Amino acid sequence: MRKIAILGSTGSIGTQALDVIARHTDCFCAEALVANTSSEKLFEQVRTFHPKIAALHTEPDFLPEDVKEGTEWFFGDNVLTLIPEITKADDVLVSVVGIAGLSAVMTALTHGKRVLLANKEPLVAGGKLVTAAAEKAEQPLLPVDSEHSAIFQCLQGAGPNQPVRLILTASGGPFRTADADTIANATKEQALKHPNWHMGRKITIDSATMINKALEVIEARWLFGMPSDKIDVLVHPQSVIHSMVEYADGAVMAQLGTPDMRIPILYAMAYPERLTTGGARLDFTKLSDLTFEQPDFKRFPGLRLGYDALKTGGTMTAILNGANEIAVAAFLNDQIRFGGIAHLVEDTMLQLTPDLNPDLDAIFEADCRARETANRLLSSGRY
Ligand SMILES: NC(=O)c1ccc[n+]([C@@H]2O[C@H](COP(=O)([O-])OP(=O)(O)OC[C@H]3O[C@@H](n4cnc5c(N)ncnc54)[C@H](OP(=O)(O)O)[C@@H]3O)[C@@H](O)[C@H]2O)c1
Repeated sequence: MRKIAILGSTGSIGTQALDVIARHTDCFCAEALVANTSSEKLFEQVRTFHPKIAALHTEPDFLPEDVKEGTEWFFGDNVLTLIPEITKADDVLVSVVGIAGLSAVMTALTHGKRVLLANKEPLVAGGKLVTAAAEKAEQPLLPVDSEHSAIFQCLQGAGPNQPVRLILTASGGPFRTADADTIANATKEQALKHPNWHMGRKITIDSATMINKALEVIEARWLFGMPSDKIDVLVHPQSVIHSMVEYADGAVMAQLGTPDMRIPILYAMAYPERLTTGGARLDFTKLSDLTFEQPDFKRFPGLRLGYDALKTGGTMTAILNGANEIAVAAFLNDQIRFGGIAHLVEDTMLQLTPDLNPDLDAIFEADCRARETANRLLSSGRY
């Protein structure tokens, strides 16, 4: 029985992780559940899963009597670091959004927990420090992002054979075939309509700009120790192949499956075993074409920014991430056009000088500077 702490239990990944736990109560239990503000949803989860610990970033007005039985409650700004420290969980699933997860990941690793990582932004902002902390803790960092889980699965059994290329597949998002003008002026409703995946709002917008793929290139660089010139992005609209690994002899390993996040979530939870998700199986006789396209860096300039940031190095990836968090929030808040997101991120990157050998404090400082700069640029009304 593995005890799992879920940071972000009320979100898209968190609720699917609880689905997986409910299906395998003989293997897993929810030891701790943490959310931001969704108190009613968390109360329901506590009634169903009876965790030892529950926590909310924002304290609710009222805590029902029945959710207090057997569950200790915590509230406040520090829950994302406090819970990984005090929980008796074996594994911490980090499925919050944005850089908020970075301290949580570092705390969990420092306290010897196995980290299941859905939240990509901690690796984007602080990949070098996160991977060093995992190595020091002698714990694997288990990817939950479907592309990285696919690569991780394709690497099983490779032994000493290092891959020569990682191929991250991308659905292309809702604007894959749209012209540049349509993309620049896309509405929130259009951008939030992902063709293949139902996800939280931030990652759905990132997928539409393809900045999500830029973040994933950086994530892959740190998870698999590959230089960025050996990480390619390939648009594959059907989202059947979740990513691929190429070896020296030209052999390519691919991981395929239905677009169901419970597969990578369960793979990380049960690793190295495989259990059943209960979801739909891939039926090859019902698949039509599997197609592939080069990504269009002109229509999706945000994709290039991931490669640019890695080339610069240091805190530039944290700057990219911080500026993107501000830009996505501004778009969702009707402050900028869809096309303004990538421009705002790029302009922020151009304005700031990175620290090339940062510690954790320098990463948070770079994140703050990126947010301040992006907010200042935003107020010019240019985007
Ligand atoms: N969704 C996917 O299919 C998918 C796939 C691959 C990777 N990812 C990555 O996984 C992460 C989560 O994505 P998601 O789509 O599940 O997001 P989501 O649906 O927006 O859920 C975010 C979760 O984090 C909680 N949270 C946010 N800030 C918090 C804070 N400061 N303290 C405590 N809890 C906090 C939210 O609580 P409230 O409900 O109270 O706001 C919610 O439970 C992201 O980094 C994303 O890029 C997601």
